[in-house]
Amino acid sequence: MATTTAGKAADNTLYYGDNLDILREHIPTASVDLVYLDPPFNSNRNYNVLFRDESGKESESQITAFEDTWHWGPDAEATYRALTTEGSDRVAKMIDAMRSFVGANQMMAYLVMMAARLVELHRVLKPTGSLYLHCDPTASHYLKIILDTIFGPDMFANEIIWKRAHTVKGNFGQGSRLWGTNTDTILFYRRSSANTFHPTFRPYTDDYLTAFYKFTEPETGRQYRLISMIGPGGAAKGNPYYEVMGVSRYWRYSKQKMQELSDAGMIVQTTMGRSACQQRPPYLRTRRSNLHVPSSFYRSRCIPCSPYRASQPA
Ligand SMILES: C[S@@+](CC[C@H](N)C(=O)[O-])C[C@H]1O[C@@H](n2cnc3c(N)ncnc32)[C@H](O)[C@@H]1O
Repeated sequence: MATTTAGKAADNTLYYGDNLDILREHIPTASVDLVYLDPPFNSNRNYNVLFRDESGKESESQITAFEDTWHWGPDAEATYRALTTEGSDRVAKMIDAMRSFVGANQMMAYLVMMAARLVELHRVLKPTGSLYLHCDPTASHYLKIILDTIFGPDMFANEIIWKRAHTVKGNFGQGSRLWGTNTDTILFYRRSSANTFHPTFRPYTDDYLTAFYKFTEPETGRQYRLISMIGPGGAAKGNPYYEVMGVSRYWRYSKQKMQELSDAGMIVQTTMGRSACQQRPPYLRTRRSNLHVPSSFYRSRCIPCSPYRASQPA
């Protein structure tokens, strides 16, 4: 196996060819910041390049862009042998075990093809690097085992679920007895815990602002929200008990910290004496929130899904 071990990857270079050869011959160890791979998914289909004529109508002459149908044959057997004899002991054991329960079949042919490439991609990543593998539920569970073995389970960062459409048309009219498939999966692994990560933000929604940042400071016009200052867990969690503005409770702050907040005008009493809601106003500093990737990709909003729609009278 010819493996490039030192040097710097060429900048702005587009390689054409089998990525396993390219990785081994051209990409040095620990030279890559980020890998995003959108490989075949083992969909058992062939994908065509669609030609359209000038009116936009699809032409009958199409060429196959790539085949996503895998077969256990001499190539798969050779890759399997290389992984179990030349690779690391962990990878060899995992691939061997996988073959024993998956069998020497289409799925296993796909998995050995992927494993050989993922070993190389792991090699070329810098310690600060990250890998995002785009796949779908056909093989994501097996790919996660492969990645856990190559990267180490503690280097697994996130499973991002990508909802491809708001609704998906099921084939119930044709007698399908399954829910429509509507998601892809992106597995995010880090090369080490020193991975580079740039948090991404998006603006708060108007609904969120209306629900939480209800108050406006008259002098400055700044919006703020109120947060309870009661110590969660009470005495059991070691919260101090004392009196603030005539209300005695277990508070989340020490008496000294509470005094500082009070001196800074950060305490608001909503209901004198009756309620324990001594609160403070964190200001809306920036109109942004953490982009929570899974929920933004796969919106949690309840949308009637295709089976429900399909069962409704037209
Ligand atoms: C799911 S498609 C990705 C398509 C691409 N991301 C896009 O949106 O157009 C998988 C791609 O991997 C390519 N591919 C499959 N095996 C490959 C290999 N061994 N080396 C390099 N590319 C390969 C296929 O030709 C295909 O274009």
